[in-house]
Amino acid sequence: MKIVLASTNAHKLEELAALLEGHDVELGPKLEVEETGVTFAENALLKAKAFLAATGKPALADDSGLAVAALGGRPGVYSARYAPTDAERIAKLLGELDGVADRAAAFVCAMALALPDGRVIAVEGRCEGLITDGPRGQGGFGYDPIFLVPGLGRTFAELTAEEKNRISHRALATEALKSQLLKLAPGLQ
Ligand code: IMP
Repeated sequence: MKIVLASTNAHKLEELAALLEGHDVELGPKLEVEETGVTFAENALLKAKAFLAATGKPALADDSGLAVAALGGRPGVYSARYAPTDAERIAKLLGELDGVADRAAAFVCAMALALPDGRVIAVEGRCEGLITDGPRGQGGFGYDPIFLVPGLGRTFAELTAEEKNRISHRALATEALKSQLLKLAPGLQ
C-alpha cells in the first residue's frame, strides 16, 4: 500500500521508513497541523486525518514523546515543545530530576493510519526505561542520550539504529500497526 507519512521530523521519517519495510512509503507534503490533543493518540489522529484530507492517500501519523513517572508523565505530548533545542530539553529534564531517586520513564508512540474509505487504525507502543544522570552516546536524536534501557545497560543513543529499531516505542507501535493492517485490510498489503 502507498502510505504518506505525516511528519516533518527527518529522523522519525528515516526510522519509520525502515520499520515499514514492504510498504511503499512516501513523504507527505509540508503541512502544519497544530497538535492540540492532550494525548499522543489524539495528536496522531489529528495529523493522519489532515494529511489524508490534503493528499487523498492513506496517511500515517505518529505522535511520540517521553513520559517521566516522577513528573506525572511530563513532558509527554509537550516533549518537542519542552525547550527550544535537544540540548536544552535534556538539560531542563535533568535539572527537574536533580536529586530525584525515581528515574522511571517511558517513550510512548501513538500511530494512526487514516484510510481513504474512512477507516482508522490506531495503535500505541511503549518502551520502559530510566533517566540517566547525564547524557551518554552519540546516536539517535532527542532525549536518546538520557534514556537508559535497563536490560541492555545502554542509552538509546548508545544503540545502533538496528538495535533501537528492534525495541523502540516506534518499533512496537509499527509492529502493532502492521498486524492490525493484516487483520483489517488484507487486500491492501
Ligand atoms: P512529535 O514530533 O510531536 O512526535 O515530538 C516527539 C518529541 O519527543 C521529539 O521532538 C523528541 O524530543 C521526543 N522523542 C520522540 N521519540 C523519540 C525517540 O525515539 N528518541 C528521542 N526522543 C524522542
